[in-house]
Amino acid sequence: DLSTHVAGVKLESYLMNASGPKCTTWEELHTIAQSHSSAVVTKSCTIAPREGNPEPRYQDLPLGSIQSMGLPNLGYKAYLEMIPALKALGKPVIVSVSGFSVEDNIEMVTAFQQSDVDLIEVNFSCPNIPGKAQVAYDFEQTDKALAAITALGNKPIGIKLAPYFDMSHFVAAANVIKKYPVKFITCINSIGNTLIIDPYTEQPIIKPKGGFGGLCGDYIKPVGLANVRAFRELLDDNVQIIGVGGIKTGIDAFEYLLAGADAVQIATCFEKEGETCFERIETELAEFMKSKNYQCIADAKGKLKPL
Ligand code: DHB
Repeated sequence: DLSTHVAGVKLESYLMNASGPKCTTWEELHTIAQSHSSAVVTKSCTIAPREGNPEPRYQDLPLGSIQSMGLPNLGYKAYLEMIPALKALGKPVIVSVSGFSVEDNIEMVTAFQQSDVDLIEVNFSCPNIPGKAQVAYDFEQTDKALAAITALGNKPIGIKLAPYFDMSHFVAAANVIKKYPVKFITCINSIGNTLIIDPYTEQPIIKPKGGFGGLCGDYIKPVGLANVRAFRELLDDNVQIIGVGGIKTGIDAFEYLLAGADAVQIATCFEKEGETCFERIETELAEFMKSKNYQCIADAKGKLKPL
């Protein structure tokens, strides 16, 4: 049994799509709803619709991907309108909200609080908007934003965090989160502002921001595992953790479970393989857990053994 709960919402399995690839249009979201993804997570939305950054803005890499999409999305009102039809497909719906200011996030969260959406994931970690810092790397901003957005209604709020790389930052982030009724965290977003150079053309491989983009996939799995583990040890058990970063097999998903994830999201593997990845990884996870005599998610969650 791979069922799990996040912020009181039951998920039929431990795996869902991440906000990111192939979750922008109705057609894409419908495809996710028909797949084995246990929820439908929408692309991070902004107040107004956006085309996003100039192309090429995504490239496959041997061990993942690099992207600087620039938040192409239909604008939050389009997702608000889609919620009844998405919910009718039978799965929990999670909206991702990514305003450019606290005011933007207040407007969008207020609107989604009045909708039939199950969970609201507020993205504090988009690295790809020229001139905009990631909220998650500024703990004062994170504090102000959380104060504002957690006071707007009863639907559970979670936040999508950037990867941290210093123990003091895990502690600082956890201490801010603990001040507010944050019901779940999703970590990690891509490792922002990395650069891949093509030595033959002597150019970057994506166009926006002089080639700087978010690194995703296999490269970032150890960072994602460390972030989930660190926050699992720092936050109270009533805050659920959704792990993301480099999951492409059932065993990858199991490693996140040991680190303490309540559920996981899949981005690059979904981008590359398509929606059949959810059923494949689910089957692999079920088989691996069976081979170890684990019956359910709770049996192994957070049970990383000391060496
Ligand atoms: C985009 C990238 C992100 O990592 C994110 O959190 C939100 C948006 C983007 O470029 O579209």
